[in-house]
Amino acid sequence: MKKRSRRLTAMAAASTITASMLVALSGGVSGTDRAAAAEDPCAAWMDPADSPSERADALVAAMDLDQKLHMVTFSNPSWFFYWGTAGHVSGQPELCIPDLVLSDAGSGVAGFQIATTTFPSGVVQASTWDPRLQRRLGRAIGAEAHLKGINVMLAPGMNIARTPYLGRNFEYFGEDPFLASRTAVSVIKGLQQNPVIADAKHFAVNNQETDRMTVDARVDERTMREIYLPAFEASVKEARVGSVMCAYNRVNGPYACENPTLLTDVLRDDWGFDGFVVSDWGAVHSTAPSANAGLDLEMHAVEIPLPESSVTGTGGRFFGADSMKAALAAGEITQQRIDDMVRNIVRPMFRLGLFEDPVAPGAEPFLRDVTTPERLALAREVAADGTVMLKNRDGLLPLDDASPDGGRTIAVIGWAANPIGASNATAGGGSSHGSGLPPRVVSPLQGILAEARDRGDRVVYVEGSAGVDAELAAAAADVVVVVATDGATEGSDRPDLGLRPSACVAVFCTSLPSRQEEMIAAATAANPNTVVVLDIGGPVRMPWLDDAGAVLVPWYGGLEHGTALAEILYGEREPGGRLPQTFPRDEEQASFDPAAYPGVDDTATYSEGLLVGYRWYDAMGERPLFPFGFGLGYTTFDYSGLDVRRTRQGAVARFTVRNTGDRAGSTVPQVYVSAPRATGEPPRQLKGFTKVRLAPGDSRRVTVRLDRRAFAHWDVDADRWVVSPGRYGVLVGPHSRDLPLSGTVRR
Ligand code: BGC
Repeated sequence: MKKRSRRLTAMAAASTITASMLVALSGGVSGTDRAAAAEDPCAAWMDPADSPSERADALVAAMDLDQKLHMVTFSNPSWFFYWGTAGHVSGQPELCIPDLVLSDAGSGVAGFQIATTTFPSGVVQASTWDPRLQRRLGRAIGAEAHLKGINVMLAPGMNIARTPYLGRNFEYFGEDPFLASRTAVSVIKGLQQNPVIADAKHFAVNNQETDRMTVDARVDERTMREIYLPAFEASVKEARVGSVMCAYNRVNGPYACENPTLLTDVLRDDWGFDGFVVSDWGAVHSTAPSANAGLDLEMHAVEIPLPESSVTGTGGRFFGADSMKAALAAGEITQQRIDDMVRNIVRPMFRLGLFEDPVAPGAEPFLRDVTTPERLALAREVAADGTVMLKNRDGLLPLDDASPDGGRTIAVIGWAANPIGASNATAGGGSSHGSGLPPRVVSPLQGILAEARDRGDRVVYVEGSAGVDAELAAAAADVVVVVATDGATEGSDRPDLGLRPSACVAVFCTSLPSRQEEMIAAATAANPNTVVVLDIGGPVRMPWLDDAGAVLVPWYGGLEHGTALAEILYGEREPGGRLPQTFPRDEEQASFDPAAYPGVDDTATYSEGLLVGYRWYDAMGERPLFPFGFGLGYTTFDYSGLDVRRTRQGAVARFTVRNTGDRAGSTVPQVYVSAPRATGEPPRQLKGFTKVRLAPGDSRRVTVRLDRRAFAHWDVDADRWVVSPGRYGVLVGPHSRDLPLSGTVRR
């Protein structure tokens, strides 16, 4: 087959709660208060009734140069040495500026933080296709962050899964810009319901971990606007994200953190971003070029010169006071630019309430256990709603349907099923990995044991790596649950579509030898009633698929993975997820021209253009192993009666969905638009969806609105989104390759 070418001291706590803050909190200003406020040096910017921009202007006007330069780079102690956070900018109590404390990441408060909830990873969040649930999750993560003394969450990550090998796929929201945008907006809105700034990362075109510190991603403007930027654009315009992290890599030449096209032309001038650009840790390579390009805050791992490293970036501090003063004296940067940088940093701090609700990092919040039963229940809910069921032969699942009275022997097989394995298989590696302390992940084995006990089923466990133990245990059981994992981590791409576990201590992971494919093959061959559970960060090959009875993909399911899994197996919950990424049939179908990925001479040429993910499969007529949007539930649905009407700006699609099975369940009607051929757009693209839950036999008339953007493409010459006049197809169905309803609309 042809190779494709594509692809802030919390205000020294109470002691620094100033008169102005008390005035602000009491909400009114009496005559005596007014006198006190007049003496208060912070009064000019501490009135929440003023706009964030007015407050930022007033604060910057009161700062001297050193106070300003303090804001644009990290403080010592740096990195994890400051209460296990990713870094901080210490507060300036004389100015009432609180600490700015930054921490990873998308699946909960992570890094070296302890006693927090590890929620399911980004890819699970996207797999739920449920904006309300994603927003609740964001809100819960933000709440834990603030309780831990953190007020910038370095999440969410939203880079597009351009290749199935992308090592950080698990942190992101899949291959489609629309799904990634909807997920990002929901998570950010939730996070920022707290006095916490969210961070849209990694801006931009950071789609591989191989050579991530240096690779130049060469991508044409239209592809950038249509595929790689929309999630960031929506994060800025719709969710009003407070910060954006520029990436390690280069984009069309310059490093992302000194890229004026990205950081100024697109982000500020075009989208109207009013927050700050923070560098990825060690992603800064210059002083004036970076500052002038639009970088506001430099972050780094440790303040010692490091050799070039693929994990932490290069050494050096470029935004330190000495460097900045030298650049200022040389006329390379202006005072105006420095003022803007500080304004950009404090504006979202005012807007999101960080001055009114300062954090106080220290031993107490560091040690505090912030998990709650409610948040653990939410983790469980997301884990189940994001689990994708890929196969379920003859209704093998849920188990209760076949034999409600129990009495079965269930063989649980695999390292990833036991508590030690599971602690490594329920979260990806790198900065987003929680410390795992205290160790309290519910493993699949523990989850299944608890459910089985209640129902009178027996459970046997084997580790399975010898193959023969897997075969013997499987052969002797009524039902087999074999659990495998792929150990994906930040800092490296997956070498192939195989299953290769890794063991992590906080953010550091190492790959382990394993024979999980043989284990699955032995179990599925020995017993047709084998449920294969894949705790994976991205697509894997499935040579054993024909023999498997059922396949579940919980991805990295977080602390409550085992409970959610057991509840799915027994039918207390349904697997509610749909794939946010195509699963290729084999390595060959997944492969790239090396110039496109991983790149040659440190350059990855995105020659596939718009044909990313299912767009490529559709354009090439390729049949994937499992298509984008696919996922089974425990009931069946029928789609009918599509009516597409033109609106002033776009269109509205109405159709009926009926639950034709005998269980309550959910489906995700997906709406794809196919543009006239002359536009040069891919065959069809996701432009709307909704999640519908129905009781057996019930039906609902569903409305999905398509805005102007659903019909627009980026016109490079016009330098804007354009809708070409013509007839557009509107296709509706349960996944990208099953779109039974079609209509058209003229635009
Ligand atoms: C990662 C970022 C992370 C930062 C701080 C970097 O290596 O790329 O995603 O937020 O470290 O831990």
